[in-house]
Amino acid sequence: MTQDTMIAVIGGSGIYEIDGLEAAEWVSVDTPWGAPSDQILTGHLDGVKMAFLPRHGRGHVHSPTEVPYRANIDALKRLGATDVFSVSACGSFREEMAPGDFVIVDQFIDRTFARDKSFFGTGCVAHVSTAHPTCARLSDAAEEAAKLAGVTVHRGGTYLCMEGPQFSSMAESKMYRESWGCDVIGMTNMPEAKLAREAELCYASIAMVTDYDSWHPEHGAVDISDILATLQGNSNNGRDLVRRLPALLGKQRDLCPHGCDRALEFAVMTAPD
Ligand code: ADE
Repeated sequence: MTQDTMIAVIGGSGIYEIDGLEAAEWVSVDTPWGAPSDQILTGHLDGVKMAFLPRHGRGHVHSPTEVPYRANIDALKRLGATDVFSVSACGSFREEMAPGDFVIVDQFIDRTFARDKSFFGTGCVAHVSTAHPTCARLSDAAEEAAKLAGVTVHRGGTYLCMEGPQFSSMAESKMYRESWGCDVIGMTNMPEAKLAREAELCYASIAMVTDYDSWHPEHGAVDISDILATLQGNSNNGRDLVRRLPALLGKQRDLCPHGCDRALEFAVMTAPD
């Protein structure tokens, strides 16, 4: 079964638009879960339908805890999105994953606790697998786009998603790095990735390293001004990467070879009426 591709980009800190979008229009989408973070910018690029949602809203008004993750994913699904790329900032637990580098995340540890994490519950219970929470097909495209954009990219990495908004203590940072084997840390990819899976959307995460969190003996505490400086220096790279995705994915797509788009096939427990 083939269908039109619609690439959705959920842009985090540092990415607030898509370069070169044709027929660009901001549209409002309402959902049963409330309003998404903002209007969604739609249009096309290289003949491929695109949708862009600023995760924190224009003007950066929603904290990581307040982002309406369910409404965001639902709104993208309603618009017809098939392939979702998350772009976000992250701290690094690895010397070799340096500020300015990009990491194509493939695993998560979810330490968030104050967010709605599922579309399911009362009335309809479902348990999807998140053993492989990102789509390898989209991650391939993200890696290729990063290489074409000339940025240093690391394929694979475990992302610790913390609640925030405060950054981690040094003890937490060392525990995530040394005992838990995490590679990067951020505040926004969960429950976003889980919800994308429940919505049967392919999802890949492109994390831009902005700092070394607080474990690093030579870098000290995380400082938002350092993060913003790295993001500013890097936002061209992020936009260049995104600009290359439609040509890599094409106007039409087949069923996902990894089954992301059929995640609910064996997940629903509740008996039909
Ligand atoms: N986003 C960017 N850097 C971060 C860090 N060190 N911890 C959590 N979220 C981040």
